[in-house]
Amino acid sequence: MKNFVYNIPTKLYFGKDQIKNLPDLLNLFGKRVLLTYGGGSVKRSGLYNTIIELLADYEIVELANIEVNPRVDSVRQGATLCKEHQIDVILAVGGGSVIDASKMIAAASKYDGDAWDLVKHPKRIEEVLPLIDILTLSATGSEMNASAVISNTITKEKLNVYNKKLYPHASICDPTYTFSVPKNQTAAGTADIMAHTIETYFSIEDDVYIQDKLCESILKTCIHYLPMVLQEPENYDARANLMWASTLAQNGIISFGKGGPWSSHHIEHILSAYYDIPHAVGMAILIPRWMNYVLNQNTVKQFAVYAENVWGITQQSDIFKTARLGIRETYEFFSNSGLPLTLPEVGVKSNEHFSEIAELASPYLTKSYISLSKDDIIRILESCMNP
Ligand code: NZQ
Ligand code: ZN
Repeated sequence: MKNFVYNIPTKLYFGKDQIKNLPDLLNLFGKRVLLTYGGGSVKRSGLYNTIIELLADYEIVELANIEVNPRVDSVRQGATLCKEHQIDVILAVGGGSVIDASKMIAAASKYDGDAWDLVKHPKRIEEVLPLIDILTLSATGSEMNASAVISNTITKEKLNVYNKKLYPHASICDPTYTFSVPKNQTAAGTADIMAHTIETYFSIEDDVYIQDKLCESILKTCIHYLPMVLQEPENYDARANLMWASTLAQNGIISFGKGGPWSSHHIEHILSAYYDIPHAVGMAILIPRWMNYVLNQNTVKQFAVYAENVWGITQQSDIFKTARLGIRETYEFFSNSGLPLTLPEVGVKSNEHFSEIAELASPYLTKSYISLSKDDIIRILESCMNP
């Protein structure tokens, strides 16, 4: 196990009605609030009205319509509003896209140059506005981590920014706010939770037994509760388990002591930059293909353990057979949850850009679980073209 420092500063208010703490949390910083949200789900669910009533004596400036796969243009817009209105604190209400954009707004509002500089050079982030969020979708873990993923449609880049200053000050995680998440989005979000866990689980570190067991528990939680939530969208305990799983999968707890770049995420981010596909759907497509591709003599033991401990597969006479059954179960689970599992289904009709995508992704993947060359990445992408 590698050395690590445990320091997650975000305060998490988990459970029903935790929104009652919002005024006190905002009061720590002031009365001028930038309220950020996405394309309208917060209004349809009634959450927007609850917030406006709760914050009747605050000065609220709004930034709506933050995109799925948020763009740097929204970050620029938000930063300008913060500067113009001398905003004290940002309140982000939504999923990963809104929270990520808001993290970068918090940074860009304290920076004199262009927001994209900070995306390209996260070390330049020195000061940030405080950020509080209300999570409405279980998926990314952005509510308790220091990452933000921002797209630039002009340069065709989608980059992950990491800087410890980006941790939200506090997150309100009320599972009832996820009751309105549609089935396809719920399945996709869960696939992303599983993808974060799988990318962490398959690492080259030895003796990380405790994290491996935590990973297996998160995966089993997703496998247990996703079908339940698809049947009963308002099942509180099922939604609560998925919500907590999303946070635990991406707040560092399972990756402390481990390391190495994630493979499928790097590929997916570039794929999203080219085709603007929802990140979580891209992950569901890539993960089983990546697993098949990196299964070899060196990795088979870990894949067989995954098959047995996560999917309950009994040991087969051939260890490769056990491992392949685990990968198959992963694919079937996503498929049975209604997720599209080929690239053509999400609008990628040909392999036209695969070489460029692979070229951009390969520098990140020389030290991943199994290092992947440009050709390897092209082959993985090609395997996503068919079921
Ligand atoms: O925009 P609105 O109308 O709010 O609708 C959203 C959006 O269409 C909808 N939604 C959210 N909460 C809802 C709801 N619909 C009904 N009821 C609710 N309660 O869901 C759609 C997707 O939302 P989005 O925020 O885009 O999804 P997600 O949370 O999956 O975030 C994806 C973004 O996060 C990045 C991804 O790359 C992508 O840009 N990631 C961020 C990470 C991080 N910060 O650590 C890690 C991840 O691996 C990921 O890369
Ligand atoms: Zn992800």
